[in-house]
Amino acid sequence: MEEKIAQIQKEYLEKISQSTSLKELDGLFLDIFGKNGAVTLLPKDFSKLPEDARKKVGPLFNTLKQELEKAIELKRVDVREESYKKLEGESLDLNEKTDVKSRIGLIHPLDQFEHEIVELFSKIGFQQYDAPQIDTDDFNFELLNIPAEHPARDLWDTLYIDNKPQTTSNKLLLRTHTSNAQIRILREYKPPIRMMVLGRCFRHENIDARHEHTFDQFEIVYVDKNLSMANLQYLSEYFLKSVLGEDTKVRLRPKYYPFVEPGVGIDGICIFCKGKGCKVCGGVGWLEVAGAGMMHPQVLKNGGVDPKIYTGIAWGPGLERILMLKHGINDLRLFRSGNLRFLEKFK
Ligand code: DAH
Repeated sequence: MEEKIAQIQKEYLEKISQSTSLKELDGLFLDIFGKNGAVTLLPKDFSKLPEDARKKVGPLFNTLKQELEKAIELKRVDVREESYKKLEGESLDLNEKTDVKSRIGLIHPLDQFEHEIVELFSKIGFQQYDAPQIDTDDFNFELLNIPAEHPARDLWDTLYIDNKPQTTSNKLLLRTHTSNAQIRILREYKPPIRMMVLGRCFRHENIDARHEHTFDQFEIVYVDKNLSMANLQYLSEYFLKSVLGEDTKVRLRPKYYPFVEPGVGIDGICIFCKGKGCKVCGGVGWLEVAGAGMMHPQVLKNGGVDPKIYTGIAWGPGLERILMLKHGINDLRLFRSGNLRFLEKFK
């Protein structure tokens, strides 16, 4: 038995000292101490030995075990140091050429369009105003002449936030339109006012090719003395002709919105059929791109502006709708799909 112990010791110390990798050392560790390892199996035969021999072999066995464990541990440190030294000798060439083609990003089509609009309206004296996307029932509805039980609320399927409000007017919601800026603007600025508001709006919609839960709107709030529908017509033409082309025709059609009086729907002539009537415009020849109107006297009052002295124009198209029209896009959902093939078309 003593001989066997000496033989194992010699054999494995040699193997350990010759090994050059951590993987090799792991293998050796298993050969020695694994389930069927040379050292693991040794004590099995101890019981067959006479008492005297057993007493001698015990300490020898312990020494062997400790010695081999220590040898592996020390060799591990050596091997690691060796490999670090090798790495130090190597250097990383950051100038190395690869096959990866560089890709240049682009501004999202909605942002591109926003920049275009801001430029257009800055030219005629409008300033940008930011209103919150999370707002109160008051600013989004109540003060715009849309009280809680008013049937017109059905026009806006609203996403409310569960904020345990003390009153209905404090109820928080995701703004359903950029019109939530109207009262804030009236209260913050003195007429004459020329403001534009751009940004995201949200609705609890059944999503399809023409409806999304998240979309962008653009709002104009224009307050001065003696404004009329003629100014509104001019703004609508200025905008749609600049964006869709000089030959675009625009018409105003009576439409009800509680915060304007009179209210109108603004139609652009269908660019697909030039007014003849086609599938895209449902045979009408015109496509609605915005709602607008003369600001309701009550809304002006709610904003602290005297309707006997001042008049106001409020005007609000959806950005995706106009882009769809401009580029012949048939599915609104593409804008927020993250589909690179779609987005790259706007380079
Ligand atoms: N806020 C309306 C909507 O989301 C659009 C609109 C209609 C805006 C009439 C206006 C307006 O400023 O005067 O449907």
